Order: sequence, then structure tokens, then C-alpha cells
Amino acid sequence: MSSRFELNKKGIKKLKIINVVGARPNFMKIAPIHNLMLRTEGIEPYLVHTGQHYDEKMSKVFFEDLGMPEPNIYLKVGSGSHAVQTAKIMVEFEKVVLEQKPDMVLVVGDVNSTVACTLVAVKLGIKTVHVESGLRSFDHRMPEEINRLMTDVVADYLFVSEESGLENLKKEGVSDDKVFHVGNVMIDSLINNIEAADHSNIMDSLGVEKEDYVLVTLHRPSNVDDIINTKILIDTLIEVSKKLKIVFPVHPRTLKNFEKFGFMEGFADNDRIILTEPLGYLDFMKLMKESKLLLTDSGGIQEETTYLGKPCLTLRENTERPSTITQGTNILIPKLDKEVILNHVDDIIEGRVKKGTVPKYWDGGTAERIVEILTR
Ligand code: UD1
Repeated sequence: MSSRFELNKKGIKKLKIINVVGARPNFMKIAPIHNLMLRTEGIEPYLVHTGQHYDEKMSKVFFEDLGMPEPNIYLKVGSGSHAVQTAKIMVEFEKVVLEQKPDMVLVVGDVNSTVACTLVAVKLGIKTVHVESGLRSFDHRMPEEINRLMTDVVADYLFVSEESGLENLKKEGVSDDKVFHVGNVMIDSLINNIEAADHSNIMDSLGVEKEDYVLVTLHRPSNVDDIINTKILIDTLIEVSKKLKIVFPVHPRTLKNFEKFGFMEGFADNDRIILTEPLGYLDFMKLMKESKLLLTDSGGIQEETTYLGKPCLTLRENTERPSTITQGTNILIPKLDKEVILNHVDDIIEGRVKKGTVPKYWDGGTAERIVEILTR
């Protein structure tokens, strides 16, 4: 008998939901939802990993750290141009949907796997849920913005993490009954794992102490695919390292470009800049919590620092997460300028720190709200 017709203990048909992960920022968003669904009587979750990210450090370690079971199926699509990657995910994911016949497909975030699986599901007439809906940078040069727009236009249920998401969807004419303000599910993962992260010995391994370092992550194409911007970033990091140590887990895209541009020598003799491979979730949480500040172009880190009340300088022209600026501790640096960045770092070192508050429903209860609505 197809699992679509399996009954739970009370004889009620179970809701079969495919949860999709593909790239690193998806894992911490799906983990609380998938794990809760596994414990929910009326739901039969099925985990699909597209394989958009595939290195152990970009994928497997997160399943272990977040206590997520192995995916039910791994599609191994790998890297490629946007068209190739998106198309490959669609071809492989369609086979899974046809075979598994889910009642719903749930996608998170804004990566290529998000939009690819949404397109497949809605065209097969399967109800599709987008978690972290409504965020907008209004910058069509960002691949993620295209993914967010396309996904939200066709998905059936839109779960929103912050007020701006509600406003954006309203302006786009989305009907209210599709939209649910449930909060930030990534903060569920942070809250669930912060104690475990405290046991990480990453600080000893790297030789850093509480607040004597800046934690850096850079991987946006707008920063690291461009030789001029990359040079400004490296010069800035070298200057910042004269004030505080730097811990910089280097994303594969960034490493490739540093090597291609011949910029790795810039770091060679500098023992105050500690380069590492991409880190696991718990090690990274520990480093974030104990750092003096973060310098980043990530989306998720803007939100995690807002929750932790940690200073964050975001090296981007815009953010799709404005509550981290209006309410949180995030400061946007729209133009890459060494002096501007150094001034902000000095402010933070000297205690002139932006104080923040935590946005509504960033409270650890988001997965519960999502599952409650889906089972209703
Ligand atoms: C993707 C997401 C981005 C997210 C980021 C987090 C899209 C459009 N972009 O960008 O939103 O912030 O993930 O990491 O979905 N690579 C490896 N090993 C891996 C994965 C990638 O070496 O496991 C290399 C590949 O050579 C690839 C490059 O990194 O060409 C970039 O990977 P890709 O998945 O294309 O985009 P990201 O920059 O990671």
C-alpha cells in the first residue's frame, strides 16, 4: 500500500510531507521542523537532500550537529551554473514526487533547491509550503532574490519570519489567508543547540579567547567573485587584524576565488588571521557567541547575531532582513570602504555598540507553530 494512505493509530490518514534541503543554510531551518514532524502522530515526513552542497563540511556535519536523521533520499545534483543546477534538481526531484506522492512539499530559504523543488511540486498539483517567505532585498542581481520571488508567487502557504515579510507579500497582492507570521525557525535551532555549542573546544583548537577576535564569513558573489572588491576585503582584514585577531572559515566559492586571484599570499605570514575550512554548526555557534563582533555577508548570521545581541557588520548593499537593522544589532555597510569598516570596528572595540531587541516570534517556538498550522 502506498504510504499516502497509511493511517495513524487513531485511524486517520497521515499527512505525507516532503521536506527539502539542498545547501548549507537550509539545514538549520529544516532540522527543527523535520524533527518535530517525526514526533507528530498525524504527519509522515520524508527528507530529500538535493545535493546542491555536498562536501562533508558543507553538509554532513550539519546533520550530525543538528541531530537530523540521514535524508530518505539524496539526489547528488552537485554544483553547476544556475540553469544547470536548477534544472538538474527539477529533473531528479520530479521523479521523487511522482514516486512518493506526498500531500505537501515544504521548502525553506532562498537557494536554488528552494525554487527548483517549488516549481516541480506546484506543477504536479502538490500543495507547497515556503518557510522564510516574503523577505525581499529588491535587488535582482542577487540570485537569492529571484529564487524568493519565484517561490512566493506560486507556493500555496507562506510562512513569514519577520514583519517586513508580511508587508512585502501584502504589497505584492498575496491573499492574507495564505500568509502566516510564525517567526524565525533558524532561531529554534540556535536555542535548541546553544548549550551543546558551549561544549565545543574550537576556541582552544584555534588559540583564541573570549572577545579577542572578529569572526568573518564572506561568500556572496558580489563580494568574492569580483577581483577589486576581493582585494579591498583582504586589505581591510589585514588592517582589522592589527586590532583584533580574525577567525575566517573560508567558503569553497571564496577559496576558489582567492586562489584564482592569487590573493592567498596576503594571509601567508599573518598569524593574527586564522583561516579555517568551513566549520560545523556547533563550532560556529560557539565562535559567534564568544566573538567581539562579526563581519559577514551572510543572511542567516545577520539574524543569529540579532538574537544573541552580538555586533554584526554586514558587507552588502542591502538586506532582505531589515528587522536585524531596525530592531537588531546589525549594521549595513553598503559600500566596501576600508576606512568606514575600520571606524565601525573601532566603535565596537571602544564600547560604542548598537543595542538591539529580538523580533517577534524569534523565540524557539516557530517549528511548533508551523506544524500546528499544517496539521490544522
Ligand atoms: C549557495 C546559495 C546561497 C547561500 C550559500 C551558502 C544559491 C543560488 N546560492 O551559494 O544563497 O548563501 O549557498 O553556502 O542557491 N562548492 C564546493 N562544495 C560544496 C558546495 C559548493 O566546493 O559542497 C563550490 C562549488 O565549486 C561551487 C561553489 O562552491 O561552484 C559555489 O557553490 P554554489 O552552491 O553554487 O553556491 P554558493 O556560493 O555556495
